Amino acid sequence: MHTNIGPTCALYPMPSTLVGATVGGRANFLAIAHIGILNNVAPQYLTVSLKKFRHTAKGIHQTGTFSICLPTKSMVLAADYVGIVSGAKVDKSRIFDVFYGELETAPMIRECPVNMELKLHQVIDLPAHEVFVGELVASHVAPEALDKGKVDLEKVKPLLFDYASGWYWSLGEPVAPCWRAGRDYQPQQTEEEGR
Ligand SMILES: Cc1cc2nc3c(=O)[nH]c(=O)nc-3n(C[C@H](O)[C@H](O)[C@H](O)COP(=O)(O)O)c2cc1C
Repeated sequence: MHTNIGPTCALYPMPSTLVGATVGGRANFLAIAHIGILNNVAPQYLTVSLKKFRHTAKGIHQTGTFSICLPTKSMVLAADYVGIVSGAKVDKSRIFDVFYGELETAPMIRECPVNMELKLHQVIDLPAHEVFVGELVASHVAPEALDKGKVDLEKVKPLLFDYASGWYWSLGEPVAPCWRAGRDYQPQQTEEEGR
């Protein structure tokens, strides 16, 4: 028998991302693990879920833009640091080598192999969180993280976040090819069907 442990969100691991915004004219980043993919054909919408009154949220409201950057596992100390101190108290604009893209106000991080810039599409106001839905405008990828023009996970080495253990994890081995492995699946016949 499985144990009912109550309404415990168990969708982890999630990629641990760094979300950037310009707040009061200054770049600010925070760690965000609660992200989502809403519409993966154009226009592509991604979400970031920020607890209400986060300093970074002010910047997203001010500029209507933000970024989602993927730190590589070797960046764990800085990636965690921006997740435990607030830009309201500490200047986080110089921790990373910052650059800007098409939107000009969504700060991105050179040290991150993958950076996406987004235009604010909608804000979903929930009891404890604001969910920012952003339209993906451009993705900036370091050449060493690309393989034949595609993002290569093995090279990105993303940081994964697990709520239950409270630890960062890293990727394991690839398992099987998507959209192909199922072709080898053999449905098991029940005794009745077999008769
Ligand atoms: C691994 C990790 C994941 C986090 N995920 C979220 C999240 O999904 N939503 C959120 O509001 N805060 C999250 N936080 C907390 C914020 O990153 C943290 O409160 C940060 O200091 C806020 O920065 P700011 O005040 O400069 O906006 C996370 C922190 C860590 C370390």
